[in-house]
Amino acid sequence: MTKIAVFCSGFGSNFQALINAVDDGRLKAEIALMVCDKPYAYVLTRAKNHNIPVFLFDPNSFSSREESERLIVKTLEGLGVDAIVLAGFMRIFTPYFIGSFKGRILNIHPSLLPAFKGAHAIRDAFEAKVKETGVTVHSVVQEVDAGPILMQEKVSVLAGDTLESLENRIHETENRIYPKAVQSFISQLKTQQKS
Ligand code: GRF
Repeated sequence: MTKIAVFCSGFGSNFQALINAVDDGRLKAEIALMVCDKPYAYVLTRAKNHNIPVFLFDPNSFSSREESERLIVKTLEGLGVDAIVLAGFMRIFTPYFIGSFKGRILNIHPSLLPAFKGAHAIRDAFEAKVKETGVTVHSVVQEVDAGPILMQEKVSVLAGDTLESLENRIHETENRIYPKAVQSFISQLKTQQKS
């Protein structure tokens, strides 16, 4: 069974969608670990409710980003993790980390990349008054919110939408497509490993 680690910093609706997909067999993977950098994040409760092991760390207790990453990589390698799934993890990785899991890190972003990169993608799209935004799942490279796109889905901005109603539709879309995208990603990785 493919082992994945999911990295989260917040509410964890995408983490929950992945858990549900594993439970009902849509995602053929084991969530071996949830990595979190925020001690009060709701996502920790979700992990606890589903008995998923947690690696909670305080970035400020390390002398550098790379030092914290070395510990994370060691932990992931110890567990035999095959792929990393970022789900609302609000930290940027060093080249060391990206290199350690090259081509094996996936991210979800709430816009149609390359439009609206950054931490406020939904708000930025709403304020720009675009007619259409969406969700992108992509493999992670050093440049933030870049990297080969695996899946995209458009979300229309409707007349009368508020920022909140648009956010809700984007999150619903994310929660629906991320398990499918992760399944397709790990199938691709398996095929690559065989060849
Ligand atoms: C999502 O919008 C995701 O695209 C972004 O962070 C948010 C995480 O939401 N990277 P949640 O914690 O999964 O509910």
